[in-house]
Amino acid sequence: MESLLFKEVTNENLKAVWQLSDTLSDAQKKCVASNVKSLAQAYVNLNDAWPRAVYNGEEPIGFIMLHLHPDDHIPEADRPAMYLWRLMIAGPHQGKGYGKTVLDMLVEKGRVEGKKSLYLSCDTDAPMPYRFYLNYGFIDTGKRDDDEQVLKYDIR
Ligand SMILES: CC(C)(COP(=O)(O)OP(=O)(O)OC[C@H]1O[C@@H](n2cnc3c(N)ncnc32)[C@H](O)[C@@H]1OP(=O)(O)O)[C@@H](O)C(=O)NCCC(=O)NCCS
Repeated sequence: MESLLFKEVTNENLKAVWQLSDTLSDAQKKCVASNVKSLAQAYVNLNDAWPRAVYNGEEPIGFIMLHLHPDDHIPEADRPAMYLWRLMIAGPHQGKGYGKTVLDMLVEKGRVEGKKSLYLSCDTDAPMPYRFYLNYGFIDTGKRDDDEQVLKYDIR
């Protein structure tokens, strides 16, 4: 597999990034906000949001957004933490290992930055993406946030 990279969302790739959301199935659209909505949230949370397009070479294939300052909501033992606010891989590119590679890249970023944990919350109505995260090594904290299950991955 070619290596993936995170790129800023700019005027050049904005349309391509928002169109990625159109490639998800209706069921998947219920699990993750549209990229347009995420970018609007990033705009009004400029100091906290880290939105990035995921590229395979020259091609945008997904989108992530981190919350950079989640610590108020994270148990002290797991701080400083990273929070994965959004993750999506475009429909035609799913099942090729890209989602797992993105998690590897985020864990590595967290390690370099001295973070202790990677947190996220996800819907549990369907087996995916919950199983995807548990397969990767995330632990179910047993806590709920906004009707979603809170999961964590130990970076240490
Ligand atoms: C969840 C998502 C990010 C996974 O990305 P992906 O690139 O398709 O996943 P990968 O190809 O890296 O697969 C990683 C593992 O998950 C498993 N997996 C992926 N899709 C699966 C599916 N539909 N059913 C069962 N297992 C699946 C793979 O078998 C693989 O396991 P392995 O490492 O044991 O082989 C992607 O499907 C997606 O964007 N879904 C819609 C949006 C969403 O739900 N985002 C998460 C919001 S919390």
